[in-house]
Amino acid sequence: MASAHEDFIPVASAASSLAGIACETNTGLETVPLSRETSFAYWQQDIPREYWDLDARQLVDRVAEARRKLGRRLIVLGHHYQREDIIQFADFRGDSFKLAQWAAQHPESEFIVFCGVHFMAEAADILSAPHQKVVLPNMAAGCSMADMADPEDVYACWEELEEAGIAGKVVPVTYMNSAASLKAFCGRHNGIVCTSSNATAVLKWAFERGEKVLFFPDQHLGRNTGAKMGIPLDRMSLWNYNQPFGSLGGMTLEELERSRVILWQGHCSVHQRFTVDQINAARAKYPDIHVVVHPECRYEVVQAADSNGSTEFIARTITEAPPGSKFAVGTEINLVSRLAHENPDKLVFCLDPVVCPCSTMYRIHPAYLAWTVEELAAGRIVNQVRVDEETARYAKIALDRMLTVV
Ligand code: 13P
Ligand code: SF4
Repeated sequence: MASAHEDFIPVASAASSLAGIACETNTGLETVPLSRETSFAYWQQDIPREYWDLDARQLVDRVAEARRKLGRRLIVLGHHYQREDIIQFADFRGDSFKLAQWAAQHPESEFIVFCGVHFMAEAADILSAPHQKVVLPNMAAGCSMADMADPEDVYACWEELEEAGIAGKVVPVTYMNSAASLKAFCGRHNGIVCTSSNATAVLKWAFERGEKVLFFPDQHLGRNTGAKMGIPLDRMSLWNYNQPFGSLGGMTLEELERSRVILWQGHCSVHQRFTVDQINAARAKYPDIHVVVHPECRYEVVQAADSNGSTEFIARTITEAPPGSKFAVGTEINLVSRLAHENPDKLVFCLDPVVCPCSTMYRIHPAYLAWTVEELAAGRIVNQVRVDEETARYAKIALDRMLTVV
């Protein structure tokens, strides 16, 4: 049985500060010393000089030694998109929902080193016990989609909905990929958080409480979920946050009144790269292929795929399939190549022949993990993610609502 590893998988150098914007196909997924990373200039710079030139082997050994010293005081959480040199240290790996759930249910370890992106570490800080400290190895590991919902823009949108007499009918729903202050906004306004693994159940919850939903920041997850629930596309409108205040996000009042879901015009640059043409090409080559994509992909891509779901869903679908199964996958390359490697009896490859890693997930280079865990072992905490008390209180309301929705 062929494996995706038989083919060279070109990947992006991730030189852009925005995920997936500038793909160059001249490098692999292997770790190189920080000083040789073309993107290092865009990353957190205050990491001590001694870590810059260490190679992957040296870094892995140093992380292992610091972990040994810290024992059960430290737990490492890893999102599925993390690179192999990081994921090997993850005590627990999962999608954003599973990782948040883990943080809410495990008060035993003193330090949670979160190998993922900033919004995930914030959620872990909010949901974990007060004595636990959450550390993000590289503070520049953000999410370009989350950045598309600037809290000030969302507050301005809400104000416009209030002035238009619509806000009273609207339940705000924020995707987990958003700042803690937006989760708090949802907590204050009878809203809720969702992830890609529970978006349908969350929208159902929201429609039991309001006529309309304001969904941010990912238009695609919102549209795909609304469509799955039977909401026609013409009842889902797009709020362009770049429009000046007072222009209803580029819509007429009638359009807004007709809308059941108001979608924020955000997207994930990694998932927007997948196309229906790629699906057709995969099917032409392998007529019995199963195409599985993340719901952050465009509507037409999700419609053309055989199945869609969170990173955990994708991993489970492939892992549980019988030997000989074939999968074309529409999600981030670190997860796809890991699944190909862990399932040598199946064909697993990425839909996009020019593969972009998520450049912000990629910023969790092992040098940062080595630095943060060695500091912890030495009794110092660096890169602690701390959400202020007031924000955390309201954000927790919206997160707790999500955790109880099934
Ligand atoms: P999951 O919740 O599926 O892990 O997705 C998080 C994410 O950022 C996908 O781009
Ligand atoms: Fe954000 Fe996209 Fe990266 Fe997920 S893959 S963390 S949505 S930029």
